[in-house]
Amino acid sequence: MPATSTEPDNVVFQDQKPALMESRAELMAGLQMDQKRVNPKYFYDERGSELFEQITQQQEYYPTRTEMAILGEYATEIAEHCGNDCVLIEPGSGNSEKVRLLLDSVQPAAYVPVDISAEFLYESAVRLGREFPWLNIHAICADFSEQWQDRTELPDGRRIVFYPGSTIGNMEPKAAEAFLSDLRQWIGSDGGVLIGVDLHKSETLLNAAYNDASGVTAEFNLNILSSVNELVDGDFSEEAFSHHAFYNTELKRIEMHLVSKESQTVKVNGSKIQFDKGETLHTENSYKYSLQDFSELSDAAGLVLGKSWLDKNELFSVHYLTVA
Ligand code: SAH
Ligand code: AVI
Repeated sequence: MPATSTEPDNVVFQDQKPALMESRAELMAGLQMDQKRVNPKYFYDERGSELFEQITQQQEYYPTRTEMAILGEYATEIAEHCGNDCVLIEPGSGNSEKVRLLLDSVQPAAYVPVDISAEFLYESAVRLGREFPWLNIHAICADFSEQWQDRTELPDGRRIVFYPGSTIGNMEPKAAEAFLSDLRQWIGSDGGVLIGVDLHKSETLLNAAYNDASGVTAEFNLNILSSVNELVDGDFSEEAFSHHAFYNTELKRIEMHLVSKESQTVKVNGSKIQFDKGETLHTENSYKYSLQDFSELSDAAGLVLGKSWLDKNELFSVHYLTVA
């Protein structure tokens, strides 16, 4: 981390320390609801980010390799939409693997990865900076749904938001619409949004993607309990819960839950939270869109869908949007 700073000259790292007190209040409120829930952003402590990276390498988890194939195949065309010398902003940048596929064609003036997972972001930015010494990297540890831009000065240039991975799918549709609508302020009238969206498909494929045979997704799901314990001084035990993920066809979303194996009481911040046997803690939704659904969502957010790229099996989509 920056205290023992060894980052190359082309990397700047800014830690906005996404608010702890707010996190505590939000977590406590979620644990006290009838359907107990945790915001999926809490998956991403350092271990969680590593586990997510492992998920992307599982045979069953088709989204990452499919989207990477699309970005690789259409990089030149994508670059024509982005234009040269743009400022490429990636909210939820993770390991910054996907942007590598675009850098040579897009040649951005700067790359701004924004992620909540501080150590993982720092290490990914440093690695990228060493591999691409010509690239100006301005990494920001922040909650991308907060006003992080008020606390930083971004490099000058036309802005393109790169939002791959179908991270949009982890928001409720109304929140997704609000987020997309806010992107209009991020990019101004002349910018663009390059976004990856997972598509609605067979239940079998979807269920397999979130229940990999090696149990990595189960480990990722259970690991959220350690973030919760850390933030609200809790005593959740991973052994007392099991992973449950299924496709909810009506709502077109994967739901991930942690199921209480027994009746139990968990202590958080000095309060007691009671779980019945079989009761669940809802940890994530991952919405899947049809092309029509996504086009309606962008419209409602005041964005124009300029171009869509799909793989030949129509598993995943990448879209270029501009301001209406
Ligand atoms: N863009 C990468 C990673 C996607 S995983 C890819 O497509 O492969 C989702 C990423 O978003 C994780 O790295 C996680 O740490 C980050 N993230 C999730 N919620 C966030 C939030 N509210 N603010 C900032 N980062 C967030
Ligand atoms: C980051 N996000 C888009 C992933 C998804 O597919 O919804 C997170 C994930 N959860 C379980 N597996 C992957």
